[in-house]
Amino acid sequence: MKFGVLVSGAGTNLQALLDADLAPAAIAIVISNRPSVPALARAERAGVPAIVVDHKAFPTREAFEDAVHVELAARGVEAIVLAGFMRVLTASFVARYPLRIVNTHPSLLPAFPGVDAPAQAIAYGTKVAGVTVHFVDASLDGGPIIAQVAVPVLPADDTRALHARIQREEHRLLPDVVRRLAAGELSCEGRIVVGRAE
Ligand code: GAR
Repeated sequence: MKFGVLVSGAGTNLQALLDADLAPAAIAIVISNRPSVPALARAERAGVPAIVVDHKAFPTREAFEDAVHVELAARGVEAIVLAGFMRVLTASFVARYPLRIVNTHPSLLPAFPGVDAPAQAIAYGTKVAGVTVHFVDASLDGGPIIAQVAVPVLPADDTRALHARIQREEHRLLPDVVRRLAAGELSCEGRIVVGRAE
């Protein structure tokens, strides 16, 4: 199953995907909505086509997403990974890939959706944080949960230290979910994801 990976920044999750054996999944293209981000260089080093579709160049969210869809369709992409992609997708884009878009988010959802989740966890004073990989719907980080891993929040943690601990887990979890999705091991009953548990 051919995947497109959408990125916006550093691309450490993309790197984890590039380094993993994803079969029967394969990454056909990487698309960044921001120019010159490190994720693009990671894809190029791995020999994976990487392009920029700059959301600022489009008058509307829909026009941006149409351009992304054209690029994905041109490469026969059937499923999408959001790997640090910091844009909310519209319902009509999501409907083009039903249960075929996954996102990784650095919190135990439904706690702390949106930006800077590790900072939100520290500011709130939680003792446990973690990572969630979930199907994407039109809500902000609100789709059906596929897998979660918890990590402790330690007293000396700053945002960077906590995020690094979370990322060690998400770099392991995300490739595994992509493999399972491509293998047809994941399905949904309402918002309950059925499949082998992590
Ligand atoms: C990741 O930790 C990912 O979970 C988070 O952004 C980081 C991107 O890192 N995503 C979100 O917060 C989405 N709401 P990366 O570019 O190094 O993969």
